[in-house]
Amino acid sequence: MVEITSATPQYSVRPATEADVPQIDTIVNYEIKTSVSNFNYGPRSAEEGLTWFRSTVAGGYPILVATTVVDDQEVVAGYSSLGGFRHKDGYRFTAEYSLYIHHEHRRRGLGRILLKDLLVEAKARDFHAIIGSISEGNEGSLNLAAEFGFRVVGTMRENGRKFDRWIDNTFVELLL
Ligand SMILES: CC(C)(COP(=O)(O)OP(=O)(O)OC[C@H]1O[C@@H](n2cnc3c(N)ncnc32)[C@H](O)[C@@H]1OP(=O)(O)O)[C@@H](O)C(=O)NCCC(=O)NCCS
Repeated sequence: MVEITSATPQYSVRPATEADVPQIDTIVNYEIKTSVSNFNYGPRSAEEGLTWFRSTVAGGYPILVATTVVDDQEVVAGYSSLGGFRHKDGYRFTAEYSLYIHHEHRRRGLGRILLKDLLVEAKARDFHAIIGSISEGNEGSLNLAAEFGFRVVGTMRENGRKFDRWIDNTFVELLL
């Protein structure tokens, strides 16, 4: 594993541990409840969060967190991770990224730092193609992906349904 060195004056990035999972779940569950950036309908349980963490790590995929200190407590302000993109053998060098910043910590450069370090990790682990799936209306994610050279592959129309409406999904890809 490469050493994680990115840091801002207020935040630092490191590999996630199981102890971070409850705070990661809180970030994910806020998005599940309020947005279409995550297509789940109901909250992720603590047990599901741990299962996700353990299977991601066991699968050879990285999970990074950006943390800061509030009242002497370390707080997880965002995370990035990779996961499998389809399951047949030939897809093993392709991974899909996830990137979530706590809503109170956005537009401070954390998404940029976590994606940058995730791509360093991806290269170190010999992944070849990184895929992003961005639901409609998420201009921030599209802008950020474009900044890193992701190419828009195409938009799948109405392949998601949430909050009683159909949602388009744009796929982006970066070859490492
Ligand atoms: C998308 C997301 C990860 C961006 O994280 P962030 O830490 O707020 O982004 P950054 O501060 O690093 O911004 C980097 C660049 O991304 C773009 N960007 C980020 N948020 C944006 C927004 N709301 N509107 C337009 N562009 C945005 C800008 O180009 C920005 O650069 P700038 O601040 O110099 O203009 C964050 O909004 C988030 O977690 N959203 C909910 C979950 C989600 O959509 N995840 C992605 C699924 S693919």
